[in-house]
Amino acid sequence: MSEQKKFKVAIIGCGMIYNEHIPALREIGDKVEIVAAVDHDPAALKKAQAKFGLAEEILFSDWKTMLAEVKPDGVDICLPNHEHFPCAMDAIAAGCHVYCEKPLALNVAEAEQMVAAANAANVKLAVGFQQEYNPGTELLINARNEGFFGDLRFIHGSLIRRRGVPGYGIYCYREPGGGPIMDIAVHLLDIMTYVCDRPQPKRITASFFYGEGNDPANGKVFTGSGEWDYENYNVEDLAAVQITFDTGLVIQMETSYINQCKDDLVYDFKLTGSKGGAWWQVYKAPEFYTDKFGAMMNMTPVYLPSQGRPDMFRKKLENWVNACTTGTELLLPGEVGLYVQRMLDGIMLAAKTGKEVLL
Ligand SMILES: NC(=O)c1ccc[n+]([C@@H]2O[C@H](COP(=O)([O-])OP(=O)(O)OC[C@H]3O[C@@H](n4cnc5c(N)ncnc54)[C@H](O)[C@@H]3O)[C@@H](O)[C@H]2O)c1
Repeated sequence: MSEQKKFKVAIIGCGMIYNEHIPALREIGDKVEIVAAVDHDPAALKKAQAKFGLAEEILFSDWKTMLAEVKPDGVDICLPNHEHFPCAMDAIAAGCHVYCEKPLALNVAEAEQMVAAANAANVKLAVGFQQEYNPGTELLINARNEGFFGDLRFIHGSLIRRRGVPGYGIYCYREPGGGPIMDIAVHLLDIMTYVCDRPQPKRITASFFYGEGNDPANGKVFTGSGEWDYENYNVEDLAAVQITFDTGLVIQMETSYINQCKDDLVYDFKLTGSKGGAWWQVYKAPEFYTDKFGAMMNMTPVYLPSQGRPDMFRKKLENWVNACTTGTELLLPGEVGLYVQRMLDGIMLAAKTGKEVLL
């Protein structure tokens, strides 16, 4: 492929997750070129330069200057959640395609503007979920399409950490978009609703629990996770949510950064329909349950390809690059981010008011 045909991508935000984006973009191959890296923290840029061998002249401390000088084809936004909206809007105004890490924005109002702006500018806006590329998820989609589940009735999903409050970034603070609902449960909501063909949410109730995140004793037990800012922690440490959809489906979900549970991490959902059920687990093959040959049967796949994060990150970014360059279907457009954001806003409101939220 000639130099001119390369898709020029600027990475914006060189903190934690960009460490998975740069290898994934490089893995896509020749058709992609990383033409800029942006971070307002000089130490982060220096680290990125050393780790990934980035040339000095492609490092920038602010995205506005970078957009004006480099004119990339697309930007890959790996900034904290409160910076997604301003950065994406500037990039779209500059005519760039946008890959934006999850959640798409802080709220529905921002997400709607991002989607509308991208559509008006005829650029591709993608949201950074990845469990769609988990082969286990693919099996559940195939099962659904074959009618294996019958009517989808109920899902119970968990994304809970026994002791896993992030000790860096904005995750302990409400205003910039921290907390387990915005940070981790957003993945679970996305994948549970994807498997159910994204029905329309109608009613939401939610309870948030506070206090454990502020208790320094929780960080003093033996734990593999590091320290966090317990003094200023102001987000929920546990949330319990129920959402009823227009199809009659009910989803119950719990998420937490601190939980008195058996395992370090639980990331799964159990789905039951009128004819069949399944158990999806993030790093394991799914199980399927139904009646067959006059008996209750359990099924597990004998072989599945890799379910690792590097594969999923490469696939999600490659899907976006292909959509931008060849017009193929974008699996996770901004509209999906907006769909999930409506549930996030509903959950936040329900927890705040203690009342059921009708959508
Ligand atoms: N898809 C996933 O599995 C996954 C996993 C982790 C994080 N994420 C998402 O990725 C995004 C980044 O998360 P992270 O954990 O890497 O955060 P981080 O705090 O480690 O990194 C963010 C970086 O952005 C820089 N930054 C902040 N404001 C800036 C600005 N105005 N201009 C330039 N640079 C700025 C910071 O200096 C920092 O280096 C978040 O939206 C998060 O939700 C996604």
